[in-house]
This record gives sequence, structure tokens and C-alpha cells, in this order.
Amino acid sequence: MKRLTYISQATPELSMSVVQHIGEISARNNQQCGITGVLLFLDGVFFQILEGETQQIEQLYEKILSDERHTNIICLKTEYPVTERMFPDWAMKMIDFNQYDDIVIRPVKSLLHTLSESHQIIEKYTQPAIAKIITQGINPLTVQPRLVEKVIMFSDIVAFSTFTEILPVKEVVELVNHYCTTCTRIISAQGGEVIKFIGDCVMASFDATQTDAALHAAIEILQQFKQMRQHAPPNHPLSLLYRTDLTSSNSVKK
Ligand SMILES: Cc1cc2nc3c(=O)[nH]c(=O)nc-3n(C[C@H](O)[C@H](O)[C@H](O)COP(=O)(O)O)c2cc1C
Repeated sequence: MKRLTYISQATPELSMSVVQHIGEISARNNQQCGITGVLLFLDGVFFQILEGETQQIEQLYEKILSDERHTNIICLKTEYPVTERMFPDWAMKMIDFNQYDDIVIRPVKSLLHTLSESHQIIEKYTQPAIAKIITQGINPLTVQPRLVEKVIMFSDIVAFSTFTEILPVKEVVELVNHYCTTCTRIISAQGGEVIKFIGDCVMASFDATQTDAALHAAIEILQQFKQMRQHAPPNHPLSLLYRTDLTSSNSVKK
């Protein structure tokens, strides 16, 4: 047997009657395929534990993942093999936490909110490959290292140290944010993955077979920033960069 725990956010317009309906349908369907569990609902957050035969759980989770009544679905944990059910008597016990406000329930409410928020933060700031492992409910610390062949790409801002000396701190931060966001968008669109940011440096990887994609990403990044330099105000240090083509020198005229 398998046990799967996930958290998700109801779509904003989801009414309480729809939530109740999900609970009823779930209890009916689950009874037919031997699935048990619990579904908690609180301030737009779903928290569900499903347990049953592996194939049944995987089929149901596929359906749940494509259900448009909720988003940001994050698998918190998968347990396999499981020999004993935690909720043997509940085909799907739906608990609407909004109805309760006693002192014992409050920490649980707080916990659910924190879980939902922290996983959104993890998704935003963690390397996609690691985030994917986490969202599958696997603890990344238990994943064994393996040897893989990759194309590694490094990209950073020419004369960044000079910019940090000339520009006010606020503008340096804006420049780095804009640079990292643009690189990430282009690298992801080409199928690559940003591994980390090191100051003004972006380190990314592509599959070993994706050399062309990596080169396309690099060229597009250069083109984007060439345009940015060309459109910078006349006295801005960016416009003083005399790198006018993709291959020229990397110094700044002061
Ligand atoms: C938060 C949430 C939890 C759900 N849990 C279950 C569940 O435990 N069992 C179930 O059959 N459907 C559940 N559903 C509904 C399924 O996504 C799907 O709509 C339902 O199984 C009907 O599918 P069918 O039309 O293929 O029968 C859930 C939906 C949501 C949004």
C-alpha cells in the first residue's frame, strides 16, 4: 500500500458548497476503490492524506493533480510500502477547519498556513530539480548522488565590480535582479535549469545533448543586454560600455 500527503490551494472563487461536494464525491469514489484518508479544508488551503493500493493512489492523484478547483499542489510526503492504514474507517473524512476556533485547533490552523507558504517559498527559491524531488514527497537528503554528463553554463555581468563602484546600491540591486530574472527566463525557455546565483553570476545546466540550446540561451542573453545597454540613458554607466557587438572587449569607459 501507499500513503500520500499533499497540500494545495483552492481556486479563489471556490464556494463552500463545492468543497462539501468534493468531500461527498471523494467518500463515495474512494469506498469503491479501497482508498481511505482525510481531507482538511482551512481558509482556502486543502490538506489531504490518501492511503490505499499503490496503483489506485497513483491513478487518483493523477486526477486530483488535473482538477482545476485547486492549484499549487505540493506533495509533502509519499510513504511506500505501507502495511497499516492510519484512517481505516474513513473513505474520505472531510473536515472543514473554518468551523472550529477552539484553542487546540488554532496551532493546527497556523501549521497548515505555514506549510502552504513555506512550500511556495521553497518552490520559488530552490533549484527546480530539487524542488521536483520535494514535490514528489521524497526527502532530497535521502537521494544518492549520481554521476551525470551536463553542459554547464556560467554567465555574469561584464565589469560588475566597476558598476558597484559607480552606481548607487539600489541601482546595483535592480541591475542584478533584472539580470538574474532575464537569464533565468531565457535559460528555462531553452530547457536549461538555473543551479544557483553567485553574486552577479548565473550558473546553469543543460542536458549533455542540449549544447545548441545552451548556445542559443547564451546568445539571447547577450542580445537582450546589448539592447538594454543601447536603451540606457546617455550618462548611465551601462551606456558607457563600449561592447557594441557580442564579442568585443569587456571594459568600461569612465
Ligand atoms: C482537494 C481535492 C481533493 C479530492 N479528493 C478526491 C478523493 O479523495 N477521491 C476522489 O475520487 N476524488 C477526489 N477529488 C476529485 C477528483 O479530482 C475528481 O474530480 C473526481 O475523482 C471525479 O473524477 P471522475 O469524474 O473521473 O470520476 C478531489 C478534488 C480536490 C480538488
